Amino acid sequence: MRVGETSPVDPAVLIVGLGMIGGSLAAALKSSGYTGRILACDPDVEEIDTGLEMGVIDDGGSDLAALVVQSGLVIVAVPVLAMRRVFEQLVPVLGDRVLTDVGSTKRCVCEAAREAFGHLPVNFVPGHPVAGSEKSGVAAANPALYRHHKVILTPESDTTPTAVAMVRALWQRCGAEVLEMPVDRHDQVLARTSHLPHLLAFSLVDTLARQDERLEIFRYAAGGFRDFTRIAGSDPVMWHDIFTANRDALLSALDDFETGLARLRAAVEQGDSDAMLGTFDRASHARHYFETLLNQTSYQTMEARQVQYRVSPGGSVNGRIRVPGDKSISHRSIMLGALANGVTEVKGFLEGEDSLATLQAFRDMGVAIEGPHQGRVTIHGVGLHGLKKPAGPIYVGNSGTAMRLFAGLLAGQAFDTELTGDASLTKRPMARVADPLRLMGARIDTAEGGRPPLRIHGGQSLKGIHYDMPMASAQVKSCLLLAGLYAEGETRVREPAPTRDHTERMLNGFGYKVDRDGDLATLQGGGALTSAPIDVPSDISSATFFLVAAAITPGSDLVLEHVGVNPTRIGVINILKAMGADLRLENPREVGGEPVADLHIRYAPLKGIDIPVDQVPLAIDEFPALFVAAANAEGTTRLRGAEELRVKESDRIQAMADGLDILGVETAVYDDGIDVVGNVSEGPNYQGGQVDSLGDHRIAMAFTIAALRAGGPVWIDDCANVATSFPGFVALANKVGLELAEVSA
Ligand code: S3P
Repeated sequence: MRVGETSPVDPAVLIVGLGMIGGSLAAALKSSGYTGRILACDPDVEEIDTGLEMGVIDDGGSDLAALVVQSGLVIVAVPVLAMRRVFEQLVPVLGDRVLTDVGSTKRCVCEAAREAFGHLPVNFVPGHPVAGSEKSGVAAANPALYRHHKVILTPESDTTPTAVAMVRALWQRCGAEVLEMPVDRHDQVLARTSHLPHLLAFSLVDTLARQDERLEIFRYAAGGFRDFTRIAGSDPVMWHDIFTANRDALLSALDDFETGLARLRAAVEQGDSDAMLGTFDRASHARHYFETLLNQTSYQTMEARQVQYRVSPGGSVNGRIRVPGDKSISHRSIMLGALANGVTEVKGFLEGEDSLATLQAFRDMGVAIEGPHQGRVTIHGVGLHGLKKPAGPIYVGNSGTAMRLFAGLLAGQAFDTELTGDASLTKRPMARVADPLRLMGARIDTAEGGRPPLRIHGGQSLKGIHYDMPMASAQVKSCLLLAGLYAEGETRVREPAPTRDHTERMLNGFGYKVDRDGDLATLQGGGALTSAPIDVPSDISSATFFLVAAAITPGSDLVLEHVGVNPTRIGVINILKAMGADLRLENPREVGGEPVADLHIRYAPLKGIDIPVDQVPLAIDEFPALFVAAANAEGTTRLRGAEELRVKESDRIQAMADGLDILGVETAVYDDGIDVVGNVSEGPNYQGGQVDSLGDHRIAMAFTIAALRAGGPVWIDDCANVATSFPGFVALANKVGLELAEVSA
């Protein structure tokens, strides 16, 4: 098939160079059921024969021109310095066939193509599958080599889109994730993540081998040596070519490495334990972070992870449990701990994907952070002006809180930054922070419609402002207060209704005075934060799912320990009590400036209410679960003044109405709220069904508890994001009496 044709038939492909990489591509295509012929060209007839015997190619030989004319797509899989000769041979025969390659460096391959063809052909799509093995030859072909691996394409702006689409589709057939980036960026990134480690492995093994001609010492080498040096067994010619072709980028990566090594050498020599531990700790965490990325469990890749919940109907909830730490306070503990002078010890930190993303962001900005180990984190604060420019964009995953608070504190830095997030966050409004920050003198670019990513230009001098917030948002308030730390003069934020005040409390706890006068929070720029211990209470927003579970199921009796009951967060308690819930606060106390209590709830019949408007900001994250309470209450529950629910991780009014509709619960949707018509019976209050959480953690958990009063099982799609706020939810839900299974696709 030529460019532009739209035949549904797979084009015949020609793989030039049938080694391990080309052979694995052939094998992967074959095992994917590829219908086009797979041809190979190699000067080594034995390789062709082996490929034919293995059944990974249909035909092959060493006559390139004869094979090209039979194909629609040519893939050059020879060592990078041999590409130019192949391109020269292709010049008279390629025509408008699509051409791609698999070389590990892209600048030199593009130059070779340019020199051979006289220009970069528009049907040439440079490519690089980021996968490999230390083995060589087609006999080592592995059909799974590219599965779940990245393939980077580096097309130019004038590359034919249909050619790019064809190459993209080819790799996707092999199970790869295909992305695009500019040629030079590719070469720089790969110099660090692939070429440098290969160089080090070759060098280490050679250094040791030279010192011991009889190779005696290798007898005593164990796992550490094996793990570090596996890639030193790779194809010497291929790597010679790569190092030669990507010389400059590799040398610059090597310079950085040598600087780091010299630093570490000095630390060892001088017995500088702080320096050694700091390095090892950062490296160890970076390695774990990378591992989670690789295992596709981190927030960065979770969009691709499909998790479905299946919840059996009926049951009740009983016991004593502690839900994970408060998300809002966890984010702030890392932020303020990093900006403080001194060491901050945090207990009860939420090890959820959102707050872990915040933690990683500060590591990326040079802050040494130990942990988390069972909720304990130690932050070595760098002071308000001690952050360093991160190497790339700061990725905050699913978290609106992180993006908005970061926007404020990054606006005051000396360096430029970019804030990015996942697909859900990319749809959320950021003008609410960008606009007032600009009034303070910040320079921020947003994508269209004020959406992420945010590009923040550093080095601006900020000025304090007096800002009347148009919406009741703790994120906007906190963002401006954080920017206010860096601003000249006074920053005053007025809120139309009280919102969570964790930022103000924590700043005061860190010795930075925030004045509160009615609806006005004020601070003076230019001060300093002093570290202080933080004990993060359990998250009332996570506890809510179990409060509602107990409130709607006869026979339930549940204690939720150590829950944060900050007056700006207790809307859910007030609303449930107003609906008739039997809910008591036991053992009230204060930890680290935040009120805490054990919440004891027993089943009692609920009735529908008109939710008081002043409770809305105090229960803003709890409405998905409260709508489930409403579906199990006698009469109608009415919510108004809650338009903010439409711009959370999903449009929570619509998402809940759609799901409740599937379960047979009557609702009426308004711009700023909803009516939920409850049903109360001895048996189930509604039917089971399959609902979509739209990737919103709180929608997923709300429908999980809804199953307790359903007539049949409830399946909930797209639940991976529960890990953003409530790691361990499935286990805890099962522990108290739900029957919940997690199915990963
Ligand atoms: C949060 C504030 C609220 C809340 C969010 C956490 C915070 O958002 O919904 O989950 O930590 O400041 P808004 O400020 O947008 O209301």
